[in-house]
Amino acid sequence: MRSDRTRRAALALGLALALAGPAAAEPGKTADHIKIAVIGGGNIGGTIGPLWARAGHAVTFASRHPEALKPLAESVGARTGTPEEAVAASDVVFLAVPYRAYPDLARSIGPALKGKVVLDAGNATKARDGELYDAVQAEGIGATSAKFFPGARLVRAFNAANYRVFAKNAAGREGGRMAIPIAGDDPAALKVAEGLVRDAGFEPVVVGGLADASKFAMGSPGFGHDLTAPDLRTKLGLAR
Ligand SMILES: NC(=O)c1ccc[n+]([C@@H]2O[C@H](COP(=O)([O-])OP(=O)(O)OC[C@H]3O[C@@H](n4cnc5c(N)ncnc54)[C@H](OP(=O)(O)O)[C@@H]3O)[C@@H](O)[C@H]2O)c1
Repeated sequence: MRSDRTRRAALALGLALALAGPAAAEPGKTADHIKIAVIGGGNIGGTIGPLWARAGHAVTFASRHPEALKPLAESVGARTGTPEEAVAASDVVFLAVPYRAYPDLARSIGPALKGKVVLDAGNATKARDGELYDAVQAEGIGATSAKFFPGARLVRAFNAANYRVFAKNAAGREGGRMAIPIAGDDPAALKVAEGLVRDAGFEPVVVGGLADASKFAMGSPGFGHDLTAPDLRTKLGLAR
């Protein structure tokens, strides 16, 4: 098993490569910790964000009412801000808002997300998200998110289980870490996401490109599992 220091170095290198882009892949620009904007401090943002803050990352929680997030943020030494402020202060963005908020966020922070690594946990439901749910059914969740945030280095992550399951398993569990399926088209962004999944206490399983995010979208057979990485790979028909 790799040491924490090795893991962090790999994560920092991954971030450097991701931020530099494929044409200028020179490592060495990032510090040990990563600046992360957690947009949405409810069930999912309020569960995963604190895990990153406790792991040493510089987290800024954001919502339409950032003052309401202060107790959460202060409990883990994090900051609060508007989505615009949080994105400007961060290298990586975690989207943890209802899917119906995506059109608003596309307008407010979409341009600033170009080139950033964006972990996307949003799921669309018919009752809550209406037409957006229909778009996701027609085009897939990865393609739909990508339409809202063109140019973002999108990785689907932390969407496939209930926040209570993440909270229960983050500190470890019998049999091995809980696997988190992730998918994205940008290999360097995927590396950053893999590191952040591990830093939160889980094991990443790369399912494929953004189109493959449908394999673990809400309502799909790959959704809602609490499995180790080898078992999830088997479940999803991936090579072990
Ligand atoms: N709940 C789960 O177990 C779970 C698991 C996996 C994935 N997900 C997905 O994660 C997303 C969030 O779910 P949740 O259960 O965490 O929701 P939630 O508890 O209702 O929290 C939503 C958060 O988003 C903020 N928000 C809403 N609209 C916003 C906007 N336009 N701009 C900025 N912030 C906004 C809310 O704060 P304000 O209202 O103050 O702005 C709140 O902090 C959903 O897409 C869901 O499908 C949820």
